[in-house]
Amino acid sequence: METTTRRVFYTAFFNVNKSLQCLRTPMGGGTRFATRAMSTTRCLRAKPPPAKKAQKKPLDYKPSSRRPPPRPSAPPPIPPKPHTNPLRYRTIPIVFGGITLFSLSAYIAYLCISLSKTPSHPVPTDPAQQSDVSHRYDDIAKTFDASVDWTESLMGLVKLRKRLAKEAKGDVLEVSVGTGRNLEFYNFDGSASVKGKEGGGGKVESFTAVDKSAEMVEVAREKFGKLRPDSKPGGVKVRWVVGDASSPAQIPPAPNQKDGKYDTVLQTMGLCSVTDPIAFLKHLGEIVKPGEGRILLLEHGRGKWSWLNDILDKFAEGHAREFGCWWNRDLEGIVKESGLEVVRFETWHGGTTAWVELRKGKCDGGNVKEAGKEKKSDGGKKGWW
Ligand SMILES: C[S@@+](CC[C@H](N)C(=O)[O-])C[C@H]1O[C@@H](n2cnc3c(N)ncnc32)[C@H](O)[C@@H]1O
Repeated sequence: METTTRRVFYTAFFNVNKSLQCLRTPMGGGTRFATRAMSTTRCLRAKPPPAKKAQKKPLDYKPSSRRPPPRPSAPPPIPPKPHTNPLRYRTIPIVFGGITLFSLSAYIAYLCISLSKTPSHPVPTDPAQQSDVSHRYDDIAKTFDASVDWTESLMGLVKLRKRLAKEAKGDVLEVSVGTGRNLEFYNFDGSASVKGKEGGGGKVESFTAVDKSAEMVEVAREKFGKLRPDSKPGGVKVRWVVGDASSPAQIPPAPNQKDGKYDTVLQTMGLCSVTDPIAFLKHLGEIVKPGEGRILLLEHGRGKWSWLNDILDKFAEGHAREFGCWWNRDLEGIVKESGLEVVRFETWHGGTTAWVELRKGKCDGGNVKEAGKEKKSDGGKKGWW
């Protein structure tokens, strides 16, 4: 009996012990499973046998016993360069150079095209044989300024216009006024600072502008309105006349003079487009005050070199058709033929641009000094042109 009791006791103890071992294993699960396992004599889940360790293969290479040389320390980072525009100080020259180059090539192309159209017959240089092309200005009035602006600036013509217009004073008549390219330079206010550089000049008392082309006059009028928007009535009297300046009937008399003659008659780049330039100048002599009145002209025509005149002659017809002006006229000859007293005849650009001052003789009631005894100079010696 005692033996049996002992056996039961040992068996029970053994089973409890075994169940407790099952509970301690990770596969043992939760409390519910443990309770059930305790009621059985065997553990439901046996501990998995330990996996056989994979045998390591020996490496084929032997690691170097030498230690790698220490890496050179990295150079300090280069600070980022400040963001600079490589064209910063060159934009204006580049743009200006580009425009000049483009214009030059366009002009050369134009010359080449015109050359191909050059007629085989000899081109007339005598104004009497040159056709009237002045009607062209009706068509090109709106684009005229833009087409001549840069060439005039480049050639220094704007400065010459300024100097010429500042010489005008009293009752002023501008013939062939065109688009009014001289308007901004007149001394309408009588300010001392704008007195003429040539020693003359003064205040403009009245201003009369004449041109054959109504379209050109319209552009000039608009320009004047913008230049002097605040011009009050009672100030300088300004008149705009559409008419032929070579016709005496179409020029109104000077408003402040008993004899109706003008103190100053001015014209720029006009002799090239009038039909009869000699008769035109003679007529100007009739409407300016004899003796003290001044005829001031800035004109263009033939030069002093034959090669240059050959080019002008070659392209004269095409240019006249396109721009309404004959650029191969002999200015000196025209001035001499006019019979007016030549006060000044100065040229630039190889003789193609001329500043001309003429006067109507006083003493002999219209007879004039022999033309050609003028103070003559050539501005070409002063400048690159
Ligand atoms: C080359 S443009 C010169 C315009 C302006 N004087 C200038 O300097 O820019 C010539 C001008 O003379 C004008 N013209 C030509 N013959 C004329 C005439 N007989 N009477 C008045 N104007 C004339 C044309 O209409 C044109 O406006």
